[in-house]
Amino acid sequence: MRLDEAQLQEYLTLTAFHEKLEIIVLDTVDSTNRYLKDLSTQKEIVLCCAETQTQGRGRFQRTWFSPKADNIYCSIRWHFPKPNNALATLSLVIGLAILKTLNTMNIATDIHIKWPNDLLWQDKKLCGILIETMQHPITGINVIIGIGLNVNSDSQTHQSEHAPIKPWCSLYDITHKMHDRNHLIAQLLIHIEQYIARFQSQGFAAFRSEWQAVDHLYGKKVAILQGNREIQGVVQGINAQGELLIVDFNQEQWQIASGEASIISQN
Ligand code: BTN
Repeated sequence: MRLDEAQLQEYLTLTAFHEKLEIIVLDTVDSTNRYLKDLSTQKEIVLCCAETQTQGRGRFQRTWFSPKADNIYCSIRWHFPKPNNALATLSLVIGLAILKTLNTMNIATDIHIKWPNDLLWQDKKLCGILIETMQHPITGINVIIGIGLNVNSDSQTHQSEHAPIKPWCSLYDITHKMHDRNHLIAQLLIHIEQYIARFQSQGFAAFRSEWQAVDHLYGKKVAILQGNREIQGVVQGINAQGELLIVDFNQEQWQIASGEASIISQN
């Protein structure tokens, strides 16, 4: 089934969303994140999803492969009225909210998160998150949460188009079933709202143990670029600020706030 605003509304009717939520469903757009960045709106929360993106973007200026009508390409613009110093950790919390959605819907239970927020199944990327923030001196902060979740694409048939991107998978690969994207998006929104509410009241500390339970990198040897130097060491988890903790081969501890870790060996 195609993305459908009325269906999405229906799935969300029983929630407290309708007053403050605007839903935009597009056929084609360059990038749902870009679309929401430029949108002028009074609504506190705006959801934009598209059947395809011509310039879907990932972290580190990468391209996000967006085959038509297969997957979820959506962005949610969320208004934070008060400054929040911990916003850097929001991306970890959103990863958890997406994972919780998939667990609650009984889609998969063995998904892990590769710091900071890639969802992986059997070492293959299932979902990527691109968070962008817009600060305004009077109106507060708008956060754009971009989610690319591989749903109905069969990774076997798309493999060549996707090369040379790293191994990826979809919910179809996991369950051998097609999934209703309208239902999934509504469930994502509901869980993200719950997680953001908890994040606003308790901060990241409230999520740390939940995050540690699904940490894909824990105990693995990794390399990570910091400026123009590469740090190599064993991952010790994350701290209360959501930073990646690495002990290098001289037993020095590093706290990494941003970047991308490549796995050198599993232990
Ligand atoms: C990553 O893993 O690098 C993040 C990928 C984020 C992709 C999504 S698809 C919807 C939204 N619009 C974009 O252009 N990017 C995000």
